[in-house]
Amino acid sequence: MVKKKTVLDILDMYERNEKITMLTAYDATMAAILDEAGVDMLLVGDTMGMVVLGYPTTLPVELEDSIRATQAVARGAKSAMVIGDLPFGTFQISEEETIKNSIKLVKYGNAEVIKLEGGKERVPVIKKILDAGIPVMGHIGLTPQSIHRLGGFKVQGRTQQAANYLLEQAKVLEEAGVFSIVLEAIPWQVAKKITESINVPTIGIGAGPHCSGQVLVTYDMLGYFDFKAKFVKRYTNLKKTIIDAVQQYVKEVKSEIFPDLSHSYEMPKD
Ligand code: KIV
Repeated sequence: MVKKKTVLDILDMYERNEKITMLTAYDATMAAILDEAGVDMLLVGDTMGMVVLGYPTTLPVELEDSIRATQAVARGAKSAMVIGDLPFGTFQISEEETIKNSIKLVKYGNAEVIKLEGGKERVPVIKKILDAGIPVMGHIGLTPQSIHRLGGFKVQGRTQQAANYLLEQAKVLEEAGVFSIVLEAIPWQVAKKITESINVPTIGIGAGPHCSGQVLVTYDMLGYFDFKAKFVKRYTNLKKTIIDAVQQYVKEVKSEIFPDLSHSYEMPKD
C-alpha cells in the first residue's frame, strides 16, 4: 500500500533540505500519472481556467469547477498530497464565505490543503481557515487573480521597495501560520532572501533555484499548451506527439488501414 504524503512529510523534506516538487493537475488520469512519476504535491490550480477551459485569465473559474477537478485529482493521487485552490471571488467577500468555500473544497473536493493568493490582507481569513483545521498554502509575487491591478502577467519585486514589500508579505503569512508559500515570477535574489528569512517552505514558479521547492503548470512543462513563459522548461513536446498520432489516425481511417481485423471483434466459429 502506497503511503499518502501529508503536510508533515512535506515539512520533513523541508527540514532535511530535500527539494519539494509540485505540479498542477486537473483530472484523475493525469493525477495518477504524475503521482506514479513521484511528484510530492498536486495543485489543482485555477490555471485550469486557462489551460483546460480556454479562458484568457484565471478569473472566470468557479468554486464548482475547482471542487469537481479536485475530486478527480484526489481520486488519481495515491501518494501525492492534493492542494485545492480557492478561485477568484471565493475568499474576498467575507470571512464566513471563505470558510464555507474552503470547507467545501476539503469536504467535497477531498483537498488536503487550501491555497489562496495574497498577503497581509488575507491574514484574518487564513487564521479562520486554520481554525477549521485546514492547512493553508500562501501565494505572493505575481498573483494572477490580481492581473487587472498589476497591469498584466508581470514579474514582481524588481525594485528594492517592491522586494521589501514581498519579504514583509512572506513574513506576515508565515506568522499567520501558513504551511508554505508559492513565490511566483519574482527575481531569484528576492526569492532567495525570502527563503532564507522564513521558516516555512517556499515553492517557486519563475522564482529561481533557491526556493525550498518548485512548481510548474503541467501543461506548460509537457509542451501541451502553446504559451511559454521564460521560466518554463519544456521537458517534452506533447503537442507535437499528439498531432503526429492524430494525423496518422486520420490518414489510416481515410485510407481504410484502421481498423484492421486485429482491432475488430469476431463471431465464434460455430
Ligand atoms: O493556479 C495555479 O496553477 C497556480 C500555480 C501557477 C502556482 O497558482
